[in-house]
Amino acid sequence: MNTRVLTGITTSGTPHLGNYVGAIRPAIAASREANVDAFFFLADYHALIKCEDADLIARSRLEIAATWLACGLDPARVTFYCQSDVPEIPELSWMLTCVTAKGLMNRAHAYKASVDQNAAKGVDEDDGITMGLFSYPILMAADILMFNAHKVPVGRDQTQHLEMARDIAQRFNHLFGKGKDFFVLPEAVISEDVATLPGLDGRKMSKSYNNTVPLFEGGSKALKSAVARIVTDSRGPGEPKDAEASHLYLIYKAFAQQAETSAFRQELEAGLGWGDAKQRLCERVEQELGPMRASYQDLMSNPARIEDILQEGARKARAIATPFIKELRQAVGLRTLGGAGAASAAKATGKPGKGGKSARFVSFRDEAGQFRFRFLAAEGTELFCSVAFADPKLAGAAMRTFQLADVNSCISLKGDLGFSIVLNDQVLAAVIDTESSPRRDQHLALLRAAHASLAEAA
Ligand code: TRP
Repeated sequence: MNTRVLTGITTSGTPHLGNYVGAIRPAIAASREANVDAFFFLADYHALIKCEDADLIARSRLEIAATWLACGLDPARVTFYCQSDVPEIPELSWMLTCVTAKGLMNRAHAYKASVDQNAAKGVDEDDGITMGLFSYPILMAADILMFNAHKVPVGRDQTQHLEMARDIAQRFNHLFGKGKDFFVLPEAVISEDVATLPGLDGRKMSKSYNNTVPLFEGGSKALKSAVARIVTDSRGPGEPKDAEASHLYLIYKAFAQQAETSAFRQELEAGLGWGDAKQRLCERVEQELGPMRASYQDLMSNPARIEDILQEGARKARAIATPFIKELRQAVGLRTLGGAGAASAAKATGKPGKGGKSARFVSFRDEAGQFRFRFLAAEGTELFCSVAFADPKLAGAAMRTFQLADVNSCISLKGDLGFSIVLNDQVLAAVIDTESSPRRDQHLALLRAAHASLAEAA
């Protein structure tokens, strides 16, 4: 199976160099690796937690989408979507909320920091803290678990959120999995060389500290004027500088090759003036960003094109999320009831409704006169076709055994795209190849849902 890499970027600001170095660049590089299925999304529901300025949110969604595309994200390769275009995510978030201990959320750094700030101010400890902020890690867990991501490239400040996602996933698996793991336990990926970029004042570059260098907005002029504001010590030209202690050097290092970086370091140690050093930094950053900025500006003047790309991404994301959430709804007991309303739901779950068809087996004789059967989802999708049996009774027996078996133990994955059905060590359906590994997951989710609906109907 391909490794699934997923990351989100909160749409409550204008992308800055820290976002680029810490998240966008490594994530795009990872998406180009072989055997990777990448999922990148705009975390716009998360943005609502931090920002009540609707226009800023709207503007930021556009800027961030344009940024990722301009930085080289290939939407044909990557599933690139907006969180709020995938309603299954908030639905999963609620299911997870119901199994998450409040105590776990009490321990979240971001929430605790707000409480501490309130204490320091002498106001009520919950002053200004919304339930959105409190539950932030659960929504983030839903983002990740919805697509069963293995790896999540994030900044170091997000490691606790990943640990929480794992905790929550385990709890859900334990409560509802009946021996099967619905969720993969995700791992944080933190780039070792560039964990967090310092901002103008030397603290972590972050919009909340107002110390950022803009990535594309404002053009090369804005880059220059931000770099000019990077805090340096008071050593003048000719005096040796302490490179490691300089934010400027650390930013340079995040853009340059190793050889360039050590040359820059030697120059600083030899007394390069801060003004010249800033100029070098601008040139080096510009070398990487200049061509991307041109494509950013092109995209920004064409928002409808970006919207189309995001809608196509949401369609791809939901091809996975929709069958998966159906499976999860089954697992937690949100199942279709018989009678009124069941007909429309029949399509979704494979349960029979009034006049509707249910998931079913269809027996037939093949060209060689042997007996086989197909397993079809309610809406008619072929889930698999059995091997040939010489005798129709054997085919019928295999059908019934399959119906009663634990479907997960029958599914045997082959390579990245294939699977077969194996029943008591006998192959029931030979390897079936799907188009892609997300398609395979989708197919298997349908298969599980259809199988579960047989049990319910029985
Ligand atoms: N919390 C992340 C941040 O502030 C953004 C985010 C939301 C995210 N959902 C995610 C990152 C899922 C990775 C995976 O950087």
